[in-house]
Amino acid sequence: MEVIDIHNHFFPRTWPDLAARYGTPDWPWIKHTDPGQADIMVGDRFFRKIYSACWDPEVRLREMNRDGVNLQVISATPVLFAYERPAEHALDCARLFNDAALELCAQGKGQLMSLCQVPLQDVDAACKELTRCLRAGHLGVQIGNHVGEKNLDDPGIVTFLHHCANEGAAVLVHPWDMFGQHRMPNYMMPWTVGMPAETQLGIVAMILGGAFDKLPRTLRICFAHGGGSFAFLLGRLENAWQHHPVAHGVCELPPSRYLDRFYVDSAVFDERALQFLVATMGAHRVMLGSDYPFPLGEERVGSLIRSSHLTAMAKTRLLGGNAKEFLGLHDQKDAQILTQPSAPAANTDQLTYSSYLKVPELLEPQQPQSSPQHHDELLFIIVHQTYELWFKELLHDLDAVVLNLRAAGADPTSHDEVYEAARLLRRCTEITRVLVEQFTILETMLPTHFLAFRGKLEPASGFQSEQFRELEFLCGLKDEKMLQYHRPTPEAHAQLERRLREPSLRDVFFDALRAMGVLAPSGGNATERERFDARARAVLSLYRDEHSHRDWIDVCERLTEFDELVVSWRLRHIQLVERTIGVRMGTGGSAGSSYLKLTLDKKFFPELWEARTLLTE
Ligand code: HEM
Repeated sequence: MEVIDIHNHFFPRTWPDLAARYGTPDWPWIKHTDPGQADIMVGDRFFRKIYSACWDPEVRLREMNRDGVNLQVISATPVLFAYERPAEHALDCARLFNDAALELCAQGKGQLMSLCQVPLQDVDAACKELTRCLRAGHLGVQIGNHVGEKNLDDPGIVTFLHHCANEGAAVLVHPWDMFGQHRMPNYMMPWTVGMPAETQLGIVAMILGGAFDKLPRTLRICFAHGGGSFAFLLGRLENAWQHHPVAHGVCELPPSRYLDRFYVDSAVFDERALQFLVATMGAHRVMLGSDYPFPLGEERVGSLIRSSHLTAMAKTRLLGGNAKEFLGLHDQKDAQILTQPSAPAANTDQLTYSSYLKVPELLEPQQPQSSPQHHDELLFIIVHQTYELWFKELLHDLDAVVLNLRAAGADPTSHDEVYEAARLLRRCTEITRVLVEQFTILETMLPTHFLAFRGKLEPASGFQSEQFRELEFLCGLKDEKMLQYHRPTPEAHAQLERRLREPSLRDVFFDALRAMGVLAPSGGNATERERFDARARAVLSLYRDEHSHRDWIDVCERLTEFDELVVSWRLRHIQLVERTIGVRMGTGGSAGSSYLKLTLDKKFFPELWEARTLLTE
């Protein structure tokens, strides 16, 4: 897999004394403190601690290889933009650092490429420097999100962006010179609060100011730090746009229609934020960006994406596929670095079967309660634990199905995500088939043997299987009453509450049909029954036009099969219960099998079943 980090920074080991060179104070300079350590100073003011990865290609490459990164696209740091200075000084400064970037790349064994910087306060000079840099080997340019009072919809900046599109330069927008700094003197708030707002302002200015309408679609532009607060507040922006003419700006379309005009990086440091970003922007629009090697950067570059629950296809896109498009590297035959292996280098503690799978830890938590230990209690524990492991995998896959269907809804012309959803659902049905079968192992336990240790289990009960309930909630079967069984475990309770609030697989499936125009938006006055009928008829219309909707029919079939298998699971569980304890009460206080029989009518996707009745009308 190709792994490309499009947002990281460098500083040269040294550079000329800029204050002396231009005869003005407060330019950035580097103060080497200890071996491999330095402070960036701005005039007399301490700005940031940095270390040798900033200037030493050996250190940088070692850490890249450790993290499995094939290519870094380095850029200088906004503190060097100098947009507020005379343009000739900013141009000279840009040249110094642009040439220094290329020198560093030349020592990068093909694993380093760069973005330049330009004196954006002077559009002509900026265009000329960009062209010079592209000829010299830069892939594009890093710009600030504003030039003084001018936002990115400023006509001069739009002209520059036009030039970038014409020249095929990738543009990375970095927040800088944050507003309201006098109110944020402490706690890094300009970085944690100001920067996200600046970035959002940059995107919103481009949308509402009509910049995207004027610029060609060929412009490749990316906003750092996940686009700041933009994705999270898009709903608010859209709402204002829809209901208040004054909030319209001069753009031709609602804000959410411009999401395919720009990229964002993945520097959000939280899996839920990343999932949300991908759900909002689409998996084609988010790219690995680490802010390496600065203090607020990702410590192990790529680890957030790699460890996330995104689909394999989405991870491939985020880790490198999208960056190749953004950087225009697709046809570049000489980008051989992209074919090098990207697995993180093994460290000195070599991985073994046992350490990778955590076998010792896995074999530890089988702790029978019976004393002396009853022989069959180990089986009872292991069978339950195995179910829980498979429930974990089911949640993992179904979460990915939700993401894929959401992405399919966002782009109804794309078939990849629908295919991927069906593929993962097939895995879910195969797992559930195994789960149905697995009860037979437990049935080798005599009822008398179970009764020998059953008394030790109370009040523990299957009612308290958090993951089983999560699966129900995730699929759309939400019963708030079941939360009561999780009061003893607040974390599980909180997780289930979250699942209760989140759109379910069933919701997301019908949202996608709505986005495709197969399901009409329901009127405000429609009854629940009318809404249900409309959803069932939407499914019916998919089946009636098999030629156009093969992929969606496949999803429907997989969902139906999954539903069917879960009912089989419920039935087999009841048979096991009756075989073991007859019609006695359960340890969780229910009436036992007679209660469980009531659950047999539960369906995750009732509309899919209703559609079958309608088909035979
Ligand atoms: C000897 C074996 C078993 C017996 C006697 C048994 C008994 C019961 C009973 C009586 C209930 C109803 C709730 C209560 O009052 O406690 C129940 C619920 C449940 N059991 Fe089992 N069970 C057995 C094995 C399993 C296994 C292997 C699993 C696998 C995960 C499992 C998962 C569940 C779940 C998830 C529920 C909640 C079902 C729902 O609310 O729809 N049980 N069990």
